[in-house]
Amino acid sequence: MNNHYIASTERLILRHFHILDAEAMHQVFCDPEVMRFSDGVQTKEWVQGWLHTCLERYYQTWGFGPYAVVESKSWDVIGYCGLFYFPDVNGHPEVEIGYRLRRSAWGHGYATEAASAVRTFAFTTLGIQRLIAIIDPSNAPSIQVAKKIGMQYETEVMLESYTHPDHIYANERR
Ligand SMILES: CC(C)(COP(=O)(O)OP(=O)(O)OC[C@H]1O[C@@H](n2cnc3c(N)ncnc32)[C@H](O)[C@@H]1OP(=O)(O)O)[C@@H](O)C(=O)NCCC(=O)NCCS
Repeated sequence: MNNHYIASTERLILRHFHILDAEAMHQVFCDPEVMRFSDGVQTKEWVQGWLHTCLERYYQTWGFGPYAVVESKSWDVIGYCGLFYFPDVNGHPEVEIGYRLRRSAWGHGYATEAASAVRTFAFTTLGIQRLIAIIDPSNAPSIQVAKKIGMQYETEVMLESYTHPDHIYANERR
């Protein structure tokens, strides 16, 4: 295992992204249903830029980032699950756990399996003390994933350029 490996679960492998993941991630970011609670569908060029940001900024500057979720039986990259640094959430710096999978992978418990592994990695390997999830209150599947990995509703946050407050779910390291 090299240092780009994060974790494996019963059905998934989590690893750093590389630039060859562009096609697989375009399948995630070009689907309007997948992007419904986000900024809308993205182009292939945007996905290339996002991957470069993972490699050149997130992993190197923060020491963490979004990780590729690989289905072990097919070796397909089915989306991301990972960690994002937010310098100011209601006046505090926070680390968010976020997840996004291609639609054909939904409904199999994959997001819960990936998020649970990333949560353990954040608390035990990275020594992060607290994780949040920032979720649109209408995004029932995402809320369910957050709750299933032990996060609890804490408060609201009005992020810049948003039209309504998101909900913050949080979990502290024990
Ligand atoms: C959120 C997302 C990652 C979940 O992926 P997934 O692999 O299908 O998630 P899981 O199967 O692990 O769990 C989903 C849970 O939501 C539940 N769920 C699904 N649709 C639901 C709905 N409309 N209302 C209530 N619960 C719902 C499922 O039943 C499941 O819970 P259960 O295991 O207790 O039955 C996926 O839907 C996605 O990529 N959505 C678009 C991107 C996104 O919104 N990301 C989160 C941004 S905060």
